[in-house]
Amino acid sequence: MTILVTGAAGFIGSNFVLNWLGSQDEDVVSLDNLTYAGNVDNLSSLSKDNRHFFIKGDIGDSKLILSTLKKYNPTAIINFAAESHVDRSISAPDTFIETNIFGTYRLLRSTLSYWEVLTEKQKKEFRFLHISTDEVYGDLDTKAPPFTEENRYIPNSPYSASKAASDHLVRAWNQTYKLPTITTNCSNNYGSFQFPEKLIPLCIINAINNKPLPLYGDGKQIRDWLHVDDHCDAIKMVLKSGAIGETYNIGGNIEKTNIQVVHSICEFLDNLKPRLDKISYAQQISFVKDRLGHDRRYAIDASKIKKELGWQPKETFESGIEKTIKWYLEHDEWVKNVISGDYKKWVDNYYP
Ligand code: NAD
Ligand code: TYD
Repeated sequence: MTILVTGAAGFIGSNFVLNWLGSQDEDVVSLDNLTYAGNVDNLSSLSKDNRHFFIKGDIGDSKLILSTLKKYNPTAIINFAAESHVDRSISAPDTFIETNIFGTYRLLRSTLSYWEVLTEKQKKEFRFLHISTDEVYGDLDTKAPPFTEENRYIPNSPYSASKAASDHLVRAWNQTYKLPTITTNCSNNYGSFQFPEKLIPLCIINAINNKPLPLYGDGKQIRDWLHVDDHCDAIKMVLKSGAIGETYNIGGNIEKTNIQVVHSICEFLDNLKPRLDKISYAQQISFVKDRLGHDRRYAIDASKIKKELGWQPKETFESGIEKTIKWYLEHDEWVKNVISGDYKKWVDNYYP
């Protein structure tokens, strides 16, 4: 048994590959075109693992995808590949439209060509699992109940609109061509290997480097946080037991304002690595101009996946954030490489 994981050198993809190979003996083909957010270093602990194969490539490269599928014969594709940062989608939406919409479309087309000629048994067993976000549901009113799978898609940013489009394409390939797809919509993840442009790693790294901790607008926007290990476990369960054509919401049931999140980081750091002057890291918080079209609240109702598949998160916010902060403190080489862009130079030489 082999699975193909796209976007495998990114934050969640790399955690998923490490989690998968750490818990079962089924080969993984990791495919990633190594954008600024893709870091092969995230998978370096697998360099001698003969169950793991890495391919530098684009999900939109149909020739490469088809030859990879024919060569490795995967029983599932887990599609993490995407442009994922909302702020970048606001200032430069092109790559979001290209990868998230056209890339997913081409990946679906290649997958269908591969799937159509499988045996009936292989066809039944095959899954295309598409990893999406809660942001497709749009801005949730403060008093409204959390998003269920029945909520309308009302995306507000170029990122969420492009993800929504990809989700619709995945649904269409199931409804029209019977490709066995499943989609998951997850809330904000945090944990090891997250690129330090996202709120949590940015604030951890800025704090210890004596830089400002930027909070957009009034800092009272709410996100529902999930530790990446819990997300990976949920994806494995959906892959094993999820129903074809269904969507599953995944969330941590941990709603926090951005101010609360940043204060928690400061409090843990005050204990784990106090500033030399012993003043709290909280004094580095700085309120900055708000993000355009900034959604105030996201929250996930994860009762369907709990009821149908028995999944629920193991980490609390306190346990997860402490683990995450410790990981960043212990991996200063990784952080230095990511910040300096050294790994990009290495990759450009290694995969010209
Ligand atoms: P990330 O930006 O860290 O990683 C994305 C990876 O995809 C990178 O390694 C990048 O090189 C790769 N990639 C980009 N374009 C590609 C292409 N055309 N072909 C092949 N590879 C390509 O993102 P992430 O946070 O790991 O998110 C992974 C997926 O999960 C995304 O689809 C995202 O929308 C979704 N998601 C993320 C979160 C979150 O909080 N991070 C929450 C819910 C859903
Ligand atoms: P982010 O980590 O970019 O994830 P997303 O936009 O996908 O939810 O941002 C999380 C929240 O933190 C979001 O409300 C924007 C806010 N934020 C800041 O206040 N300051 C920052 O520097 C960043 C990157 C985000």
